[in-house]
Amino acid sequence: MGALGITIALLVWVVTLLLISIWKQLYSSWNLPPGPFPLPIIGNLLQLDIKDIPKSFTRLAKRYGPVFTLYLGSRRTVILHGYKAVKEVLLTHKNEFSGRGEIPVFQEYKDKGIIFNNGPTWKDVRRFSLSILRDYGMGKQGNEARIQREAQFLVQELRNTQGRPFDPTFLLGCAPCNVISDILFHRRFDYKDKTILRLMSLFNENFYLLSTPWLQLYNNFSNYLRYMPGSHRKIMKNASEIKVYALERAKEHLQSLDPSCPRDVTDCLLIEMEKEKHREKPPMYTMENISVTLADLFFAGTETTSTTLRYGLLILMKYPEVEEKLHEEIDRVIGPTRIPAIKDRLEMPYMDAVVHEIQRFINLVPSNLPHEATQDTMFRGYLIPKGTVVIPTLDSLLYDSQEFPDPEQFKPEHFLNENGKFKYSDYFKAFSAGKRVCVGEGLARMELFLLLTAILQNFNLKSLVEPKDIDLKPITIGFGCVPPHYKLCVIPRS
Ligand code: HEM
Repeated sequence: MGALGITIALLVWVVTLLLISIWKQLYSSWNLPPGPFPLPIIGNLLQLDIKDIPKSFTRLAKRYGPVFTLYLGSRRTVILHGYKAVKEVLLTHKNEFSGRGEIPVFQEYKDKGIIFNNGPTWKDVRRFSLSILRDYGMGKQGNEARIQREAQFLVQELRNTQGRPFDPTFLLGCAPCNVISDILFHRRFDYKDKTILRLMSLFNENFYLLSTPWLQLYNNFSNYLRYMPGSHRKIMKNASEIKVYALERAKEHLQSLDPSCPRDVTDCLLIEMEKEKHREKPPMYTMENISVTLADLFFAGTETTSTTLRYGLLILMKYPEVEEKLHEEIDRVIGPTRIPAIKDRLEMPYMDAVVHEIQRFINLVPSNLPHEATQDTMFRGYLIPKGTVVIPTLDSLLYDSQEFPDPEQFKPEHFLNENGKFKYSDYFKAFSAGKRVCVGEGLARMELFLLLTAILQNFNLKSLVEPKDIDLKPITIGFGCVPPHYKLCVIPRS
């Protein structure tokens, strides 16, 4: 028995050595960017802090340079760190790296809609959605008027709190949610409506869960973890419910569709579906694809802007001197009663700088969404094979210490020149860049400016704790940086 045991142990040892050597040979035969040696199955998991993967990327970039390879589980991944490398990938090689890296927890949305679409329909669906969004954004009933109208509802709702403490999550969230809902479904909700509150809680919970350590593990080891219990199931369930909501709206719209008079984005997508019925080629605008497109725009259009507003107010309470300067600028340029307009931004460099600095500082999507190489690509002398996941990190630009001295500090001066005028920075890439650049950038920027200005025109913010005790650190970092929970009071200025 003893001899048999020793023989088996020796055999296992020899086979393991053999496997490692084959793995090493395979690995070094590719001309990939440098990186730590990966282990079979777990890849470079041991080199990552799953509670703060973006920080691990920054640490590894110090050792391996701005372009390095990591194995996230068995997925070959190239990380880009810093302005030059990120811009080169997103703008110089824009087609080669315009694929979408798989996000396994969104299996149900895979290769449909826009965000998670790495299939042949992505380009057309994205292009068509952008053109409809542009149409609905312009003109008299365009986005500016839409946001201005919503800003008045938001101000009224804030007034109704009568100076009492409240959690701003859903109250603030209703404004961007109503704006995008009006564009997509020609529908806005009362701030107490159960449907909007339910939808926002789904968006909010998914953004939080996606940023937890478990999901970083799940998205890289989904083959092994798929059948386990855990919060990935909750995300899938929530995403399904959002899609069902969008599908129901699409079905409802179909019944009353008048192709000569589209009411909203849903109608435009359905008209395209009807047109396709007379064509030969395989249909692209199926009800399934339409509902994923609508769901994409609905949650991406709500959660991002809503979280930025919520984080922004917390930051302003920590720095009352910044809030005071904003009040002064608003009073001087707009006064107490006129509804803020986009043209005011030109005369409000301080507000413009504060909005940019909020977005820079909160670093909402630190590692961007994963891209994928659509073909074998030579990049800086390395060969990046088709199918490689490519991560053009955004935090490496937003926290660049040359461009933004003291990047860890919240300083509107990062976006102001010595004359107090707004200073543009090409490092400000909170919305990414290139072929996959955020579809809602224009809308989000307008919302942030108009809604924050309207809030501060009408209210003073009052924290329940001393400013020095406000902790701005995110409560979890993963897909996003999630702000701490808090309550505040808003006190009418007149
Ligand atoms: C503060 C607000 C927002 C931020 C910081 C933000 C950020 C981002 C980022 C970083 C990406 C990934 C880009 C890439 O893959 O390179 C993205 C994609 C996207 N965003 Fe936004 N976003 C915001 C608001 C919005 C809004 C309001 C909408 C909807 C109208 C929207 C719709 C989308 C869509 C559809 C994509 C996927 C684009 C594609 O894959 O082709 N976003 N966003």
